[in-house]
Amino acid sequence: MNRRGSSVWRVTDEERRRHAVKLGYVSSPTHTFTALAPAREAAILRQLGREGIHWGEWEHGTWSVQPWRNGESLWELWEGHREGSRDTDTQMAEALSCAKELAQLHDAGWVHGDVQPHHFIIGDQRTHVIDLGLAHGGDIPEAYDFPFRGCLVMYESPEISRSVLEQGYAVPTRESDVFGLGASLFISVTGLRAVEFPPDAEREEQRRVIAKGHHRKVTIPGPLGSIVEAMLSPVPTDRPTVAQVCDALT
Ligand SMILES: Nc1ncnc2c1ncn2[C@@H]1O[C@H](COP(=O)(O)OP(=O)(O)O)[C@@H](O)[C@H]1O
Ligand SMILES: [Mg+2]
Repeated sequence: MNRRGSSVWRVTDEERRRHAVKLGYVSSPTHTFTALAPAREAAILRQLGREGIHWGEWEHGTWSVQPWRNGESLWELWEGHREGSRDTDTQMAEALSCAKELAQLHDAGWVHGDVQPHHFIIGDQRTHVIDLGLAHGGDIPEAYDFPFRGCLVMYESPEISRSVLEQGYAVPTRESDVFGLGASLFISVTGLRAVEFPPDAEREEQRRVIAKGHHRKVTIPGPLGSIVEAMLSPVPTDRPTVAQVCDALT
């Protein structure tokens, strides 16, 4: 996969173990952080006690190695729900597995900062949350650190959008992660963005819409719908903690 400022390779070693190898590079003068993101993430994964983590520098930025996680993303896996063909018990178990992963990260003192349905990899054995390049919590080597300037707008909470608009940066929080999880579940079930915004507008314009704090009506039936609605609350302190989300989904 090769996107603006980052390429990810799936590499199989001589012992047939699979690794994700990331290369970060400067893609434009306004987009220099992508060069640092792989090393930043790897330093965080190491602090979280993950095995098989390596990083270093190359001529255009930093690189990292981490274990490849087998499975499908929440977005891919729930395609069947969007078509109305999958069992809701399985769906609740999968939603819970995502919430538990995030809860573990929060318990370890970290905030993810970039919660989105492509960052939950659901496998047969377990679920993993990936892409911790924007996480906050512990110590980051200064050489690899950069300010948080928001995430993918459609998973961004109103207070984060507001802060990015007003100050150019924000501080991701557990509450903003919970909003991101709510928006991720919402779009994965319905195929619709939780907050309706102009998809073709400039990012700043989109943020102005998000900042107003209105989300689409949650029509997801049952307990999943009620908890998603609570997670999308425009007031951060009104949102449940991810531990409470786990309880509700259990
Ligand atoms: N450890 C991993 N295991 C499995 N897939 C991964 C892993 N790391 C990255 N990927 C895949 O590569 C994509 C991009 O990687 P990601 O970590 O999100 O970096 P970025 O968004 O900065 O490009 C992910 O959405 C996922 O599909
Ligand atoms: Mg990503």
